[in-house]
Amino acid sequence: MKKILLLGADGQLGTDIKRFTSSAEIEIIASTRADFDADFDSVDEKLSMYKDCDYIINCIAYHKVDQCEDNREKSFAINANFVLQLSLFATQNNITFIHISTDYVFDGMKNKLHKEVDEPNALNVYGESKFVGEQYVKAYTRKHFVLRVSSLFGSKKSDNPNINFVEKMIHAAKAGQNLKVIDNQIISPTHTKDVALAIKEIIVTNYNNYGTYHCCNSGTCSWFQFVKKIFALTNLDTDLTPVSYVSFHTHAKRPQYCAMDNSKLAKFYKMKNWEDALEEYLELKGYRA
Ligand SMILES: NC(=O)c1ccc[n+]([C@@H]2O[C@H](COP(=O)([O-])OP(=O)(O)OC[C@H]3O[C@@H](n4cnc5c(N)ncnc54)[C@H](OP(=O)(O)O)[C@@H]3O)[C@@H](O)[C@H]2O)c1
Repeated sequence: MKKILLLGADGQLGTDIKRFTSSAEIEIIASTRADFDADFDSVDEKLSMYKDCDYIINCIAYHKVDQCEDNREKSFAINANFVLQLSLFATQNNITFIHISTDYVFDGMKNKLHKEVDEPNALNVYGESKFVGEQYVKAYTRKHFVLRVSSLFGSKKSDNPNINFVEKMIHAAKAGQNLKVIDNQIISPTHTKDVALAIKEIIVTNYNNYGTYHCCNSGTCSWFQFVKKIFALTNLDTDLTPVSYVSFHTHAKRPQYCAMDNSKLAKFYKMKNWEDALEEYLELKGYRA
């Protein structure tokens, strides 16, 4: 039996990690903000009873990208310094650390699929702070996996229609809204179930080729192509206009090309194509019944 401490267990990704990795061989200790608040609690004090864990999975992040711009200190506290504390705790207790990072560590200028060897150059405070978090993990925990994920959609139950992009678009279409969607920002949409299954594979096989991996669904699309596929699969119809990235003014700059190459991960776990992953998500959520 492997014992896993899951931090951020009530988030989108955390919810699917709980759901899809628990098994007879894997015991998940699901920690939420109520158990452990990274803003206030000390890692050593709160986590001292989990020294016998085999893995820590960290899904906690401050990732409201526009807010991060004005809250640099908080961004670095949660996305970097807290991660350093976890790294040290993991090393001291011989625990393997699985840390979740982001495609936003890149500036998108490559205009081609990003590989793990490509040099990060974040455009915003969120990406900068996540990259520093990654560096701490690499520097302080030999037994680590940094999994960069991107544009997540996961089936956590929520009344919030903005919980992820898929829900937001379905909600808008059902409300009969006309939509303008960016057609020149390229992404790798990713189902949290598939990230959870990749993590499960690491754990059940004792995979020990430690390092950084791009853990996204295969293939790329623009946000506009993504919405078209969502509507095609759900038989929704609404007035949809493609617009350019430059016509959307956001407080934080975002990379225009965010898609990642997952072939390094594919050596031990093959991620689905994003279209198949989307279809599975829509079925799980009952949109294709
Ligand atoms: N969502 C995306 O599209 C996306 C894209 C690229 C990378 N990522 C990365 O993927 C990971 C998971 O993202 P997600 O979409 O699952 O995020 P999420 O749904 O917001 O989950 C994050 C969880 O962490 C908890 N949390 C945040 N701050 C905390 C704190 N100070 N103390 C304790 N708990 C705290 C949140 O609790 P509360 O609900 O109470 O705040 C939430 O349950 C993050 O590392 C993120 O950077 C996400």
